[in-house]
Amino acid sequence: MNRIFSGMQPTRQLHLGNYLGALRNWVALQNEYECIFCVVDLHALTIAQEPEVLRNNIREVAAAYIAAGIDPDKNILFNQSFVSGHAELGWILSCHTPLGWLNRMTQFKEKAGKHRDMANLGLYSYPVLMAADILLYKATHVPVGEDQKQHLELARDIAGAFNRHYDTEFFPLPEPQILGEATRVMSLRDGTKKMSKSDESEYSRINMTDDADTIAQKIRKAKTDPEPLPDTLEDLEKRPEADNLVTIYAALSGETREQAIQRFAGAQFSQFKTALLDAAVAHLAPITQRMNELLADKAEIDRLLRKGGERAEAIASRHLAEVKDIIGLLRP
Ligand code: AMP
Ligand code: TRP
Repeated sequence: MNRIFSGMQPTRQLHLGNYLGALRNWVALQNEYECIFCVVDLHALTIAQEPEVLRNNIREVAAAYIAAGIDPDKNILFNQSFVSGHAELGWILSCHTPLGWLNRMTQFKEKAGKHRDMANLGLYSYPVLMAADILLYKATHVPVGEDQKQHLELARDIAGAFNRHYDTEFFPLPEPQILGEATRVMSLRDGTKKMSKSDESEYSRINMTDDADTIAQKIRKAKTDPEPLPDTLEDLEKRPEADNLVTIYAALSGETREQAIQRFAGAQFSQFKTALLDAAVAHLAPITQRMNELLADKAEIDRLLRKGGERAEAIASRHLAEVKDIIGLLRP
Protein backbone atom coordinates (compact mmCIF):
# COMPACT_ATOMS: atom_id res chain seq x y z
CA MET A 1 0.00 0.00 0.00
CA ASN A 2 1.21 3.52 -0.76
CA ARG A 3 0.93 6.21 1.86
CA ILE A 4 2.16 9.78 1.80
CA PHE A 5 3.33 11.75 4.81
CA SER A 6 4.55 15.33 4.61
CA GLY A 7 4.63 18.43 6.75
CA MET A 8 5.56 22.07 7.15
CA GLN A 9 6.74 23.98 10.16
CA PRO A 10 4.47 26.67 11.63
CA THR A 11 7.31 29.16 11.82
CA ARG A 12 6.17 32.45 10.30
CA GLN A 13 4.24 32.64 7.08
CA LEU A 14 4.35 30.15 4.24
CA HIS A 15 5.88 31.49 1.04
CA LEU A 16 5.94 30.77 -2.65
CA GLY A 17 8.78 28.25 -2.18
CA ASN A 18 6.67 26.21 0.24
CA TYR A 19 3.77 26.42 -2.17
CA LEU A 20 5.55 25.53 -5.43
CA GLY A 21 8.07 23.14 -3.90
CA ALA A 22 5.65 21.17 -1.76
CA LEU A 23 2.06 22.20 -1.10
CA ARG A 24 0.97 22.34 -4.71
CA ASN A 25 2.31 18.84 -5.31
CA TRP A 26 0.43 17.55 -2.29
CA VAL A 27 -2.81 18.87 -3.76
CA ALA A 28 -2.16 16.91 -6.96
CA LEU A 29 -1.09 13.74 -5.13
CA GLN A 30 -4.09 13.56 -2.77
CA ASN A 31 -6.12 11.81 -5.46
CA GLU A 32 -3.61 9.02 -5.99
CA TYR A 33 -2.45 8.23 -2.46
CA GLU A 34 -3.68 7.89 1.05
CA CYS A 35 -2.23 11.10 2.50
CA ILE A 36 -1.30 12.40 5.92
CA PHE A 37 -0.46 16.11 6.02
CA CYS A 38 0.94 17.43 9.24
CA VAL A 39 1.65 20.83 10.77
CA VAL A 40 4.96 19.94 12.41
CA ASP A 41 4.66 22.11 15.50
CA LEU A 42 7.24 20.15 17.54
CA HIS A 43 9.84 20.92 14.87
CA ALA A 44 9.00 24.61 15.20
CA LEU A 45 10.20 24.51 18.82
CA THR A 46 13.79 24.14 17.60
CA ILE A 47 13.76 27.92 17.27
CA ALA A 48 12.42 30.27 19.97
CA GLN A 49 8.65 30.74 19.78
CA GLU A 50 6.13 33.08 21.39
CA PRO A 51 3.29 30.81 22.58
CA GLU A 52 0.47 32.98 21.21
CA VAL A 53 2.23 33.46 17.89
CA LEU A 54 2.95 29.75 17.57
CA ARG A 55 -0.68 28.88 18.27
CA ASN A 56 -1.81 31.17 15.47
CA ASN A 57 0.87 30.00 13.07
CA ILE A 58 -0.30 26.41 13.53
CA ARG A 59 -3.81 27.48 12.51
CA GLU A 60 -2.44 29.52 9.62
CA VAL A 61 -0.52 26.61 8.16
CA ALA A 62 -3.58 24.37 8.49
CA ALA A 63 -5.66 27.06 6.75
CA ALA A 64 -3.05 27.34 3.99
CA TYR A 65 -3.21 23.58 3.36
CA ILE A 66 -6.99 23.68 3.04
CA ALA A 67 -7.07 26.92 1.04
CA ALA A 68 -4.54 25.49 -1.43
CA GLY A 69 -6.89 22.58 -2.03
CA ILE A 70 -6.13 19.84 0.52
CA ASP A 71 -9.40 18.16 1.44
CA PRO A 72 -9.46 17.67 5.23
CA ASP A 73 -12.08 14.93 4.99
CA LYS A 74 -10.37 12.82 2.38
CA ASN A 75 -6.87 13.24 3.86
CA ILE A 76 -5.64 13.24 7.42
CA LEU A 77 -4.68 16.80 8.39
CA PHE A 78 -3.45 17.40 11.92
CA ASN A 79 -0.77 18.96 14.08
CA GLN A 80 2.15 16.81 15.16
CA SER A 81 1.99 17.43 18.92
CA PHE A 82 -1.54 16.00 19.01
CA VAL A 83 -0.05 12.51 18.56
CA SER A 84 2.50 11.77 21.28
CA GLY A 85 3.87 8.83 19.27
CA HIS A 86 6.03 11.22 17.19
CA ALA A 87 8.13 12.14 20.21
CA GLU A 88 8.17 8.56 21.52
CA LEU A 89 9.27 6.99 18.26
CA GLY A 90 11.74 9.85 17.85
CA TRP A 91 13.44 8.75 21.05
CA ILE A 92 13.52 5.09 20.01
CA LEU A 93 14.98 5.96 16.61
CA SER A 94 17.54 8.28 18.15
CA CYS A 95 18.97 5.19 19.86
CA HIS A 96 19.58 3.73 16.40
CA THR A 97 21.15 6.83 14.87
CA PRO A 98 24.94 7.24 15.00
CA LEU A 99 26.08 10.79 15.76
CA GLY A 100 28.21 10.66 12.63
CA TRP A 101 25.07 10.58 10.48
CA LEU A 102 23.69 13.70 12.15
CA ASN A 103 27.04 15.48 11.89
CA ARG A 104 26.69 15.39 8.12
CA MET A 105 23.38 17.30 8.03
CA THR A 106 23.95 20.54 6.15
CA GLN A 107 20.76 22.17 7.44
CA PHE A 108 21.98 21.86 11.03
CA LYS A 109 25.29 23.43 10.10
CA GLU A 110 23.52 26.33 8.37
CA LYS A 111 21.01 26.90 11.15
CA ALA A 112 23.47 26.52 14.01
CA GLY A 113 25.93 28.90 12.35
CA LYS A 114 29.15 29.80 14.08
CA HIS A 115 27.97 29.19 17.62
CA ARG A 116 27.39 25.47 17.32
CA ASP A 117 27.83 24.81 21.04
CA MET A 118 24.93 27.14 21.77
CA ALA A 119 22.55 25.36 19.35
CA ASN A 120 19.89 23.34 21.13
CA LEU A 121 19.77 19.55 21.10
CA GLY A 122 16.40 19.62 19.35
CA LEU A 123 17.89 21.41 16.35
CA TYR A 124 20.54 18.71 16.16
CA SER A 125 18.13 15.79 16.45
CA TYR A 126 15.53 17.48 14.22
CA PRO A 127 16.05 14.97 11.36
CA VAL A 128 15.45 12.03 13.73
CA LEU A 129 12.06 13.47 14.70
CA MET A 130 11.37 13.95 11.01
CA ALA A 131 12.20 10.28 10.38
CA ALA A 132 9.84 9.35 13.23
CA ASP A 133 7.05 11.45 11.65
CA ILE A 134 7.29 9.46 8.46
CA LEU A 135 7.96 6.00 9.90
CA LEU A 136 5.26 6.24 12.56
CA TYR A 137 2.74 5.91 9.73
CA LYS A 138 4.91 3.57 7.64
CA ALA A 139 4.68 6.15 4.88
CA THR A 140 6.13 5.05 1.53
CA HIS A 141 6.31 8.45 -0.20
CA VAL A 142 7.27 11.92 1.01
CA PRO A 143 6.67 14.94 -1.27
CA VAL A 144 9.04 17.76 -0.31
CA GLY A 145 11.20 20.51 -1.79
CA GLU A 146 14.78 19.75 -2.75
CA ASP A 147 16.22 21.09 0.52
CA GLN A 148 14.77 18.10 2.39
CA LYS A 149 16.51 15.47 0.28
CA GLN A 150 19.32 14.88 2.74
CA HIS A 151 16.88 14.53 5.65
CA LEU A 152 14.96 11.92 3.69
CA GLU A 153 18.08 9.94 2.92
CA LEU A 154 18.74 9.91 6.64
CA ALA A 155 15.17 8.70 7.30
CA ARG A 156 15.81 5.82 4.91
CA ASP A 157 19.10 5.02 6.62
CA ILE A 158 17.46 5.03 10.05
CA ALA A 159 14.62 2.78 8.84
CA GLY A 160 17.21 0.40 7.37
CA ALA A 161 19.28 0.40 10.56
CA PHE A 162 16.20 -0.43 12.66
CA ASN A 163 15.09 -3.19 10.28
CA ARG A 164 18.55 -4.77 10.23
CA HIS A 165 19.04 -4.56 13.98
CA TYR A 166 15.76 -6.35 14.72
CA ASP A 167 15.88 -8.55 11.64
CA THR A 168 12.54 -7.29 10.40
CA GLU A 169 11.06 -5.47 7.42
CA PHE A 170 8.76 -3.43 9.63
CA PHE A 171 9.55 0.01 8.23
CA PRO A 172 9.27 0.69 4.50
CA LEU A 173 12.13 2.83 3.14
CA PRO A 174 10.37 6.12 2.29
CA GLU A 175 10.82 7.55 -1.22
CA PRO A 176 11.26 11.31 -1.67
CA GLN A 177 9.00 12.91 -4.28
CA ILE A 178 10.70 16.09 -5.47
CA LEU A 179 8.35 17.21 -8.22
CA GLY A 180 7.57 20.05 -10.60
CA GLU A 181 9.61 22.85 -12.16
CA ALA A 182 10.30 24.76 -8.95
CA THR A 183 11.83 22.31 -6.49
CA ARG A 184 14.13 25.03 -5.12
CA VAL A 185 12.73 28.54 -5.29
CA MET A 186 15.40 31.16 -4.65
CA SER A 187 15.30 34.51 -2.87
CA LEU A 188 14.04 37.47 -4.92
CA ARG A 189 16.99 39.50 -3.59
CA ASP A 190 19.73 36.95 -4.28
CA GLY A 191 19.39 34.17 -6.83
CA THR A 192 21.99 32.04 -5.06
CA LYS A 193 20.08 31.88 -1.74
CA LYS A 194 17.00 29.76 -1.04
CA MET A 195 13.70 31.61 -0.51
CA SER A 196 13.24 31.14 3.20
CA LYS A 197 10.99 32.14 6.08
CA SER A 198 14.01 33.19 8.09
CA ASP A 199 15.47 35.71 5.60
CA GLU A 200 15.34 39.11 7.29
CA SER A 201 14.24 40.86 4.09
CA GLU A 202 10.50 40.73 3.39
CA TYR A 203 11.40 41.51 -0.22
CA SER A 204 13.22 38.19 -0.51
CA ARG A 205 9.99 36.19 -0.57
CA ILE A 206 6.35 36.25 -1.61
CA ASN A 207 4.15 35.14 1.27
CA MET A 208 0.97 33.20 0.70
CA THR A 209 -0.90 35.96 2.55
CA ASP A 210 0.52 38.89 0.54
CA ASP A 211 -2.08 40.98 -1.25
CA ALA A 212 -1.89 41.83 -4.95
CA ASP A 213 -0.14 45.18 -4.40
CA THR A 214 2.52 43.65 -2.19
CA ILE A 215 3.17 40.85 -4.67
CA ALA A 216 3.47 43.42 -7.47
CA GLN A 217 5.91 45.54 -5.45
CA LYS A 218 8.08 42.59 -4.52
CA ILE A 219 8.29 41.35 -8.10
CA ARG A 220 9.00 44.84 -9.44
CA LYS A 221 11.85 45.18 -6.95
CA ALA A 222 13.18 41.65 -7.50
CA LYS A 223 16.86 41.64 -8.39
CA THR A 224 17.68 41.11 -12.07
CA ASP A 225 20.57 41.79 -14.42
CA PRO A 226 20.69 44.36 -17.25
CA GLU A 227 20.43 41.91 -20.20
CA PRO A 228 17.17 40.94 -21.91
CA LEU A 229 16.06 37.34 -21.35
CA PRO A 230 18.07 34.72 -23.26
CA ASP A 231 16.62 32.15 -25.64
CA THR A 232 18.21 28.97 -24.32
CA LEU A 233 18.09 27.23 -20.95
CA GLU A 234 21.85 26.96 -21.07
CA ASP A 235 22.24 30.76 -21.13
CA LEU A 236 19.49 31.19 -18.57
CA GLU A 237 21.24 28.92 -16.11
CA LYS A 238 24.27 31.23 -16.05
CA ARG A 239 22.04 33.99 -14.62
CA PRO A 240 20.66 32.93 -11.22
CA GLU A 241 18.12 35.74 -10.72
CA ALA A 242 16.72 35.45 -14.24
CA ASP A 243 16.64 31.67 -13.93
CA ASN A 244 14.70 31.87 -10.67
CA LEU A 245 12.08 34.26 -12.03
CA VAL A 246 11.57 32.22 -15.20
CA THR A 247 11.31 29.04 -13.13
CA ILE A 248 8.67 30.64 -10.91
CA TYR A 249 6.79 31.83 -13.97
CA ALA A 250 6.90 28.34 -15.52
CA ALA A 251 5.70 26.66 -12.34
CA LEU A 252 2.85 29.15 -11.88
CA SER A 253 1.63 28.91 -15.43
CA GLY A 254 2.00 25.14 -15.76
CA GLU A 255 4.70 25.31 -18.44
CA THR A 256 8.18 23.84 -18.59
CA ARG A 257 11.11 26.25 -18.18
CA GLU A 258 11.95 25.51 -21.80
CA GLN A 259 8.50 26.70 -22.94
CA ALA A 260 8.70 29.79 -20.74
CA ILE A 261 12.11 30.77 -22.09
CA GLN A 262 10.84 30.39 -25.66
CA ARG A 263 7.91 32.66 -24.86
CA PHE A 264 10.07 35.42 -23.36
CA ALA A 265 13.26 35.14 -25.42
CA GLY A 266 14.63 38.65 -25.99
CA ALA A 267 12.09 40.31 -23.65
CA GLN A 268 13.10 43.05 -21.22
CA PHE A 269 12.61 42.31 -17.53
CA SER A 270 9.97 45.05 -17.18
CA GLN A 271 7.74 43.23 -19.68
CA PHE A 272 8.47 39.78 -18.28
CA LYS A 273 7.85 40.96 -14.71
CA THR A 274 4.38 42.17 -15.66
CA ALA A 275 3.52 38.69 -16.92
CA LEU A 276 5.07 37.13 -13.84
CA LEU A 277 3.20 39.28 -11.37
CA ASP A 278 -0.08 38.70 -13.21
CA ALA A 279 0.52 34.95 -12.98
CA ALA A 280 1.45 35.16 -9.29
CA VAL A 281 -1.57 37.27 -8.35
CA ALA A 282 -3.98 35.14 -10.42
CA HIS A 283 -2.68 32.03 -8.73
CA LEU A 284 -2.35 33.22 -5.14
CA ALA A 285 -5.28 35.65 -4.72
CA PRO A 286 -8.01 32.97 -4.49
CA ILE A 287 -5.88 30.96 -2.04
CA THR A 288 -5.20 33.99 0.15
CA GLN A 289 -8.88 34.90 0.16
CA ARG A 290 -9.90 31.39 1.16
CA MET A 291 -7.22 31.35 3.86
CA ASN A 292 -8.57 34.56 5.36
CA GLU A 293 -12.11 33.18 5.35
CA LEU A 294 -10.97 30.04 7.12
CA LEU A 295 -8.97 32.00 9.69
CA ALA A 296 -12.07 33.98 10.64
CA ASP A 297 -13.35 30.82 12.35
CA LYS A 298 -10.53 29.51 14.51
CA ALA A 299 -12.77 27.12 16.40
CA GLU A 300 -13.55 25.36 13.13
CA ILE A 301 -9.86 24.99 12.28
CA ASP A 302 -9.20 23.61 15.75
CA ARG A 303 -12.05 21.17 15.28
CA LEU A 304 -10.68 19.97 11.94
CA LEU A 305 -7.21 19.53 13.41
CA ARG A 306 -8.59 17.57 16.34
CA LYS A 307 -10.58 15.31 14.04
CA GLY A 308 -7.52 14.70 11.86
CA GLY A 309 -5.44 14.14 14.99
CA GLU A 310 -7.77 11.40 16.17
CA ARG A 311 -7.49 9.61 12.83
CA ALA A 312 -3.69 9.95 12.90
CA GLU A 313 -3.55 8.69 16.48
CA ALA A 314 -5.43 5.52 15.53
CA ILE A 315 -2.73 4.55 13.02
CA ALA A 316 0.18 5.81 15.11
CA SER A 317 -0.76 3.96 18.30
CA ARG A 318 -1.12 0.67 16.42
CA HIS A 319 2.31 1.03 14.83
CA LEU A 320 3.94 2.20 18.04
CA ALA A 321 2.59 -0.85 19.89
CA GLU A 322 4.11 -3.06 17.18
CA VAL A 323 7.45 -1.25 17.51
CA LYS A 324 7.40 -1.78 21.27
CA ASP A 325 6.77 -5.49 20.77
CA ILE A 326 9.61 -5.74 18.27
CA ILE A 327 12.14 -4.07 20.54
CA GLY A 328 11.09 -5.78 23.78
CA LEU A 329 9.32 -3.03 25.73
CA LEU A 330 6.45 -4.21 27.92
CA ARG A 331 3.21 -2.38 27.34
CA PRO A 332 0.02 -2.32 29.41
P1 AMP B 1 9.57 24.43 5.88
O1 AMP B 1 9.07 25.79 5.65
O2 AMP B 1 11.03 24.38 6.11
O3 AMP B 1 8.79 23.68 6.90
O4 AMP B 1 9.35 23.64 4.51
C1 AMP B 1 8.13 23.05 4.14
C2 AMP B 1 8.23 22.44 2.74
O5 AMP B 1 8.50 23.47 1.78
C3 AMP B 1 9.35 21.41 2.58
O6 AMP B 1 8.89 20.36 1.75
C4 AMP B 1 10.44 22.20 1.91
O7 AMP B 1 11.30 21.39 1.14
C5 AMP B 1 9.65 23.13 1.03
N1 AMP B 1 10.41 24.38 0.77
C6 AMP B 1 10.83 25.29 1.68
N2 AMP B 1 11.50 26.30 1.09
C7 AMP B 1 11.50 26.01 -0.24
C8 AMP B 1 12.03 26.68 -1.41
N3 AMP B 1 12.68 27.85 -1.30
N4 AMP B 1 11.85 26.10 -2.61
C9 AMP B 1 11.18 24.92 -2.73
N5 AMP B 1 10.66 24.25 -1.69
C10 AMP B 1 10.81 24.78 -0.45
N1 TRP C 1 11.86 19.25 7.86
C1 TRP C 1 10.76 19.62 7.01
C2 TRP C 1 11.00 21.05 6.49
O1 TRP C 1 11.52 21.88 7.16
C3 TRP C 1 9.44 19.56 7.72
C4 TRP C 1 9.11 18.17 8.13
C5 TRP C 1 9.10 17.67 9.40
C6 TRP C 1 8.74 17.10 7.27
N2 TRP C 1 8.71 16.36 9.38
C7 TRP C 1 8.51 15.98 8.10
C8 TRP C 1 8.59 17.00 5.88
C9 TRP C 1 8.14 14.74 7.57
C10 TRP C 1 8.24 15.75 5.37
C11 TRP C 1 8.02 14.63 6.20
O2 TRP C 1 10.65 21.33 5.42
